[in-house]
Amino acid sequence: MQIGIDKIGFYTPQMYIDMNELAEARDVDPAKFTIGIGQERMAVPPITQDAVTLAANAALEILTDEDKQQIDYVIFATESGIDQSKAAAIYVHRLLGLNPNARSVEVKEACFGATAGIQMAKGHIALHPESKVLVLGSDISRYGLNTGGEVTQGAGAVAMIISANPRIMTIDEPSVYHTEDIMDFWRPNYSDVAFVDGKFSNEKYISFFQNVWGQYQTKTEMGLADFDAICFHMPYTKMGLKALKSIFDEETNSDQDRLMDRYEISKTYNKLVGNIYTGALYLSLISLLELNTDIEPGARIGLYSYGSGAVGEFFSGILQPGYKEVLKTAQHQKLLEERKALSVAEYEDIFQEGLPTDGSSVTLPVEEDPAVICLGGIENHSRHYVNKNR
Ligand code: COA
Repeated sequence: MQIGIDKIGFYTPQMYIDMNELAEARDVDPAKFTIGIGQERMAVPPITQDAVTLAANAALEILTDEDKQQIDYVIFATESGIDQSKAAAIYVHRLLGLNPNARSVEVKEACFGATAGIQMAKGHIALHPESKVLVLGSDISRYGLNTGGEVTQGAGAVAMIISANPRIMTIDEPSVYHTEDIMDFWRPNYSDVAFVDGKFSNEKYISFFQNVWGQYQTKTEMGLADFDAICFHMPYTKMGLKALKSIFDEETNSDQDRLMDRYEISKTYNKLVGNIYTGALYLSLISLLELNTDIEPGARIGLYSYGSGAVGEFFSGILQPGYKEVLKTAQHQKLLEERKALSVAEYEDIFQEGLPTDGSSVTLPVEEDPAVICLGGIENHSRHYVNKNR
């Protein structure tokens, strides 16, 4: 039985800051941000969006009533979750009106979480071929104003339906993985911004890629020639490029142009949105699938997932006949085109706006947020969400 991605959706907040303007405000040469780091714009979430609402908005565009009945497992990957105990998946389950006879859980391993979710979903479908699993990767990436990581922030979510006989891409065996206990990026419970050793993180991202790529080659006897494209986890768009180039050598000369061209396509949405942590690899897959003009069904796509801390995994899938017809290309381009540009001062004000941390209640201006699903406020220590369509 073939199992894989049957549908894929995406959501990002409707405000952004331009990297040239941010660079000027930080007294940095804009080329460092746009070329050295490879980012053009960065999504800025309003106070009415959190990991739950971003994920629910991403799922909204791909679910039919039939899907809502067939989904019996919701797996929510995040590293910017809202509760230490209750799974964010449960809020999404209610907001979307899913079948009550479902499992709903949250998984965590930094940016790797959604890949863990996909593999869990695959096991579930292997046992229950008639079911569908909703896998969500949703995050707000925050390093802080005036920090080295500021240029690599962002916000957004990817939602995928994993099923048997998928219409977009199978997820094939083998999958190879690697774990090491390292402190390259982490966020203690008392902090709302991440701690990162940026250079160390970059080194580990690349060495984990070399490790899993080596394992994959040994297990499959495949090489770069077998791949039409490789998608990478993208904390910023230069990162995956460095990893890709690290496995090029003279023997792979004839494949390099193809993989480099496809890499350029795969980074298009990421460079306009910024880092969305768990969803970043899958946003790059969406970008590749929606924007390429010549990748035919039957093509093999490699995927490299990396979560700091750290876990890396490499696996691949085959594009299915008619995959382009299942994609939400026009909606995603409209979403990105209709965003509002913020000044640096506006971005800083929004960044510093926070929800109460002392247990007090708050009502939030959902009417100012064009998203369908918003955080409406907090009362009795509980977040209250609004689905404007229901
Ligand atoms: N024009 C063009 N490129 C320029 C430039 C300019 N004027 N100035 C600098 N650059 C290049 C540098 O050469 C460097 O390129 P390289 O990486 O190919 O060598 C790149 O811009 C970044 O410069 P650097 O000095 O290393 O930046 P930094 O010290 O500010 O750190 C990060 C950059 C990415 C490490 C930092 O933003 C960070 O820590 N981000 C978070 C990291 C992260 O997300 N980790 C998780 C990985 S999963």
